[in-house]
Amino acid sequence: MNSVGRCALVLGASGGLGSAMVSEFLNDPEIDKVFSVSSKKNPVGSNEGQNQSKLVWLQAEYSETQMADTVSQLMPHAGTFSRVCVCHGLLHSDKLWPEKRLEDITSEALQEIFHSNTVVPALWLKLLFKILKGQTPCIVATMSARVGSLSDNNLGGWYAYRASKAALNMVLKTASIEYARRAKNVKLIAFHPGTTDTALSKPFQSTVPTGKLFTTEFVAEQLAMIMDSAQLDGELSYLDWDGQTIAW
Ligand SMILES: NC(=O)c1ccc[n+]([C@@H]2O[C@H](COP(=O)([O-])OP(=O)(O)OC[C@H]3O[C@@H](n4cnc5c(N)ncnc54)[C@H](OP(=O)(O)O)[C@@H]3O)[C@@H](O)[C@H]2O)c1
Repeated sequence: MNSVGRCALVLGASGGLGSAMVSEFLNDPEIDKVFSVSSKKNPVGSNEGQNQSKLVWLQAEYSETQMADTVSQLMPHAGTFSRVCVCHGLLHSDKLWPEKRLEDITSEALQEIFHSNTVVPALWLKLLFKILKGQTPCIVATMSARVGSLSDNNLGGWYAYRASKAALNMVLKTASIEYARRAKNVKLIAFHPGTTDTALSKPFQSTVPTGKLFTTEFVAEQLAMIMDSAQLDGELSYLDWDGQTIAW
């Protein structure tokens, strides 16, 4: 499917996969403008040599008020978005680490991880509705993870992260039903990038089999291709980096 609209939007743009998607869209001649939303300032020197004039960087914290304010700034471009990538995600931080057993579960970690992985994407789907609805075919890919699949969970552990991604998948499924009814030009994808070399996966990379740790550039190219071939079928697709469907 060709991108008829001319704008792309990357939410959570400073992360490994977020910044790779920004670069991918900056290099896409079918995209005229790339709006990037991040809690960070535009990192100086990143995307250098690319079509910088296409880039609009919006800084915002992820409270609903600031997110709504960001969407107001995008309002003049309503109806022109053909690509949206929601790239937020948290697995570990200085204060939290993925749980290995029941005793490791804390309400603080659950709340923090659910906020970034589930609540923030859900709020974007709500707030963006009015600027995505229209005539321009628009593909919205949200970074999920295979560990959010109930049927794929054979190892256990990582309670908060797994649960936040399973909940994200349900938010996306429910939103896809409503978007199909109220904004037929929008298609939602829950995307699993595969283990990719970013800050999020860094502490867990030593056990990744050779050849299975992807670069962000590779995954961004794969996702761009998947978005290019997506159909407006009113369904949520749960796809990995290779375009293969993941069982729920
Ligand atoms: N890397 C992997 O191996 C892998 C595997 C499966 C799934 N994923 C998923 O891919 C997505 C991107 O991850 P990544 O690997 O690019 O990680 P990353 O480099 O650590 O980037 C994390 C992203 O999450 C945002 N973020 C961080 N803390 C947040 C918070 N408290 N509230 C809201 N947003 C927050 C950041 O946005 P700012 O721009 O505001 O900093 C940043 O874009 C995540 O959803 C992750 O679960 C990654």
